[in-house]
Amino acid sequence: MQDTRHRVLDAIADGPVAGPALADRLDVSRAAVWKHIEALREAGFAIDGGDDGYELVSTPEFGGESVEFGLDAPFEVEYHDTIPSTNDRARELAADGREDVVVLADEQTGGRGRLDREWASPSGGIWLSILLRPTVPPADAPAFTLAAAVATARAAREAGVDATIKWPNDVLVADGDGRQRKLTGILTEMEGEADRVSWLVVGTGINANVDAAELVDGATSIREENGDVNRRVFTQRVLEVFHELRSDLNAVVPAWRDLADTLGRRVRVDTPGGEVVGEAVGVEFPGTLVVETDDGTVRVSAGDCEHLRAV
Ligand code: BTN
Repeated sequence: MQDTRHRVLDAIADGPVAGPALADRLDVSRAAVWKHIEALREAGFAIDGGDDGYELVSTPEFGGESVEFGLDAPFEVEYHDTIPSTNDRARELAADGREDVVVLADEQTGGRGRLDREWASPSGGIWLSILLRPTVPPADAPAFTLAAAVATARAAREAGVDATIKWPNDVLVADGDGRQRKLTGILTEMEGEADRVSWLVVGTGINANVDAAELVDGATSIREENGDVNRRVFTQRVLEVFHELRSDLNAVVPAWRDLADTLGRRVRVDTPGGEVVGEAVGVEFPGTLVVETDDGTVRVSAGDCEHLRAV
């Protein structure tokens, strides 16, 4: 959001401020103040314009300006009501040299999942892609995916949904029969050289205010688990926790462990090098799963993990 517009919102959030006083305070013309007020109303902010001046009455439930307002993380948010894929758009922005931009959408018409799968993205979800340019080697990239899983699981728990993480980054909720249903999926894409990431796009699909019937089998949503959530607040929490973790990558794995449901379980992991079956006994930076198999300890850095049963 434009800096002046942000300052207008900050000023009128705590009570009415007269137009001329606002213009003085922000060192802009009265016409400029009026233009910002109109733009904010158009973006869905309810602003009273009574005798005492302008006053913010309510903030839109979702949208770029609404997520940026009050966000405690240095991201710019580009919002779309509908878009083919936020990851595709973030990749375009990467090609333009941008960074610390979040592409956010209410609906995706061509959402992409891992392994070239489609990702159902009906209206009401939180479909977002964070574009970063971290100064780390490509080998550390999985830590950002884990950070997004932690951020989403924490936000879901704050919203009253008992979410846990299945290695490496599926956020799940158990139903009454102990069956785990998927709430969030993460698709991280990157470009770089052998020793340096050029850009990273962390695409996170959160089934928020959507009916499970609109999702694939085995998926659930915040609505299904606990009723609708304020997507503005939820998105802000995801971005704030993600920012905190990406600023201190060593904190990611401990935070992940606190929310993980994989450790201590018997797992089967489909890896590019074959199947690994055993007890998941640990996770090491940047997200490597340690599995105790009949043939000894195996470390897995990528693969599809299935929980078999608790050991
Ligand atoms: C998975 O297969 O589990 C990963 C799903 C990732 C979906 C998200 S939604 C936002 C972003 N845009 C996309 O097209 N995909 C990711």
